[in-house]
Parts: sequence; C-alpha cells; structure tokens
Amino acid sequence: MRRVYFDNNATTPVDPLVLEAMKPFFLEDFGNASSIHGFGQRARAAMEQARRQVADLIGAQSQEIVFTSGGTESDNTALRGLAPYLRDRGNHIVTSSIEHPAILRTCEQLEKEGFEVTYVPAGKDGAIRLDVLEAAIKDRTILISIMYVNNETGTIQPLGRISELARSRKILLHTDAVQAVGKIPVDVKKLNVDLLSLSAHKLHGPKGIGVLYVRRGVRFNPLFLGGPHERNRRAGTENVPGIVGLGTACELAKQGLEDFEKRVRGLRDRLENTVLEQIPDSSVNGSRTERAPHVTNLSFRGTEGEALLISLDFQGIAVSTGSACSSGSLEPSHVLRAIGVPSDLIHGSIRFSLSRMNTTEDVDYLLEVLPKTVGRMREMSPLYKER
Ligand SMILES: Cc1ncc(COP(=O)(O)O)c(C=O)c1O
Repeated sequence: MRRVYFDNNATTPVDPLVLEAMKPFFLEDFGNASSIHGFGQRARAAMEQARRQVADLIGAQSQEIVFTSGGTESDNTALRGLAPYLRDRGNHIVTSSIEHPAILRTCEQLEKEGFEVTYVPAGKDGAIRLDVLEAAIKDRTILISIMYVNNETGTIQPLGRISELARSRKILLHTDAVQAVGKIPVDVKKLNVDLLSLSAHKLHGPKGIGVLYVRRGVRFNPLFLGGPHERNRRAGTENVPGIVGLGTACELAKQGLEDFEKRVRGLRDRLENTVLEQIPDSSVNGSRTERAPHVTNLSFRGTEGEALLISLDFQGIAVSTGSACSSGSLEPSHVLRAIGVPSDLIHGSIRFSLSRMNTTEDVDYLLEVLPKTVGRMREMSPLYKER
C-alpha cells in the first residue's frame, strides 16, 4: 500500500542531510560545548556555526539566537520570561484566541499570577481582528504575542501592521513563527519583532530543539537557572546534535524557499481545487489568499473528521483533524470555532499540510481515494443530503 504523509504541521520527516550532519556529534565530537579540550571545542564550533545558519535564515544576528528544547519552551520563555521582568511597567498582555496551546495555557497561568490578558478574536478569514487589537492596547500593556502562521488554517497574520502598533506604543512584540519559518520568508528586522519562536521538527530537523530569537537589548528572566549557557539566557548542557541538525535544516530551508513557494503551493492548490470541484459540499476554512503555501483546511459537510482520518489512515494517508497537538481529544478545534466555522463543519474538517518531500503522485493518490471515502461516509449518514 502507498504511504502518503500530509500531516507536516504536526511534524516533518528529518532530511537525510540533516541526519548525516548530526551523526558525528553523537559518536565522535560528542564533547560538552563548555569543555576546554578538543572534544568540547569542536562541539562548540559546530554549535556556533548552527547559530549562524539559523540567524541567516531569519535575518538575525548570531547573539540573538537562544537555543531551547522547541517551540513550546520558546513560547513559554517569551511570555513567562518577559512578563514578570516587565511587571513594574504594567501587567497587561495582548494575544489572540487562535494561538497554539503553548501560548494560550501560558497566558492562562499568567492570569492566575495577576496579569491581565486580552484574547483578540479572529474573523472568518482566519486573521485576527486588528481593530480589536488596537482598541485593546492600554497604558499598562507590556507585551503583544501574535502567531505568524496559524497551525490549523495556514492563515498568515497581519504582523506588519501589528508591529507598527507595538512600536508606536513602545510595547514588546513576540511572534510564534513555528509554522512560518522555512515555509514563507521570515525576516525579524523587516517584521520588526522583538522575540520569535521556531522549532526544528517543523522544517525537517530533529524533535526537541528550537530557538527563541531575542532582539539585542531585550532582557528577560530565564526559565531555567543553572550554568551560564546561552549567555545566561537558558541554562543546561546544549543539545549539540540537535542544534547542528537545526542549523543544517535552516540552511536547506533557505536554499529551498523559492522552490517551496512554487512547487508546494502548486501541489496544495491542485489538491484543494480538485477536491472542491469533485466533492460536493466541501469548503475551505480560513483565507485562501493570505495563507502559507503548504496548508489547506477543508470541511466536508455530513462527515465526521475522526472517521475520515481513520479511513484515510487505513488507506495509507496521514492527515489530521483540528490540531494534532490536541488529537486524542474530541474537543472541536478552538481555532475553527474562533473563526466562526459552524460546529457541524468543524466536526467534518480535515487539515492537509504538505512539505517539500510530497510529490505529484502523493496528491494523485489522495485525489483517487478521498472522493470515494467521503462519498461512502455520506451514504452511511442518515442526515446527509446533497444540497
Ligand atoms: C504554532 C505552533 N506553536 C508551537 C508549537 C509547539 O512546538 P514544539 O512541538 O516544538 O514544542 C507548535 C507545534 O505544533 C505549533 O504549531
């Protein structure tokens, strides 16, 4: 049976070149990057090269790159590191209702600790409401955290406008760019953000390694205390193989960005357009224009997303319903709910997320299987009638 992977927003396969680059740092140059001997120094040199590779991809300086254990830790550090640090200036944080749980749960905890958080809603196009964001800003606002690309719909958030607002009010701006880096051009200077989260396993790097970009001059309370690693911003012996893997993944992503934009967008668009044409009562959730090239979130009226997912899985195709991070729970997607998708359509929604490893044959196979699968489910449904 063919095996086709369309769940790249959950995680991506490691690029073989990434794995090759990592190998020596398990077996030969396994030293602690803080050690003075040759083993340590070789590890440190590789780590610093990786720092430059990451910085290069996002238009940052090397010193602005802090290695973490992934997107979740980067998001936690941005919020929990900054909010208490800035407490003297105010206690208000602005975020959105469509953020990843790594932001939402952290904000809820900060609320318990005396911070006030405004959750800006999003419109039907999947983008946050700029007018509400602007009106939410107070004198006590110390931080705005808005994601760059939404993980469920792929919608690109209007960060340019948000950073203008933040600048003019002298408020720090963090963005969770976990689903943006390596997929669309990301330049921290052009975006004018103060902090940015990214994660290696979303761009063909290994799991368990990520970065918090911290603009020069921005200070925060580190989450982990211990040794002086990462210029006192994140204690703990560095994950050198992971860091080297992330650096290589970033270099490959930079080289492949144009191809990604063209080829992956082409595959996604063909998938989406053909599905909309061939499957009645199917619709796209979120904007079809302001969107990263690799994601389509589709609803099939009269179907159950979980049943569709399982049936596709039996036929070798991996997709997800709602957010993979909350899969296992049958809670309807908080993002689709927030952008006003009716609940029956939320329950019949599937996210297809592509990567540069996907091929035309992958899309052909899906297009062969999906219409029949949706058709069979609807035949079994006592409620579905074609409109
Ligand atoms: C937008 C977004 N932020 C944060 C994360 C968490 O990243 P990690 O898995 O590296 O902790 C994810 C992962 O799904 C994500 O999609």
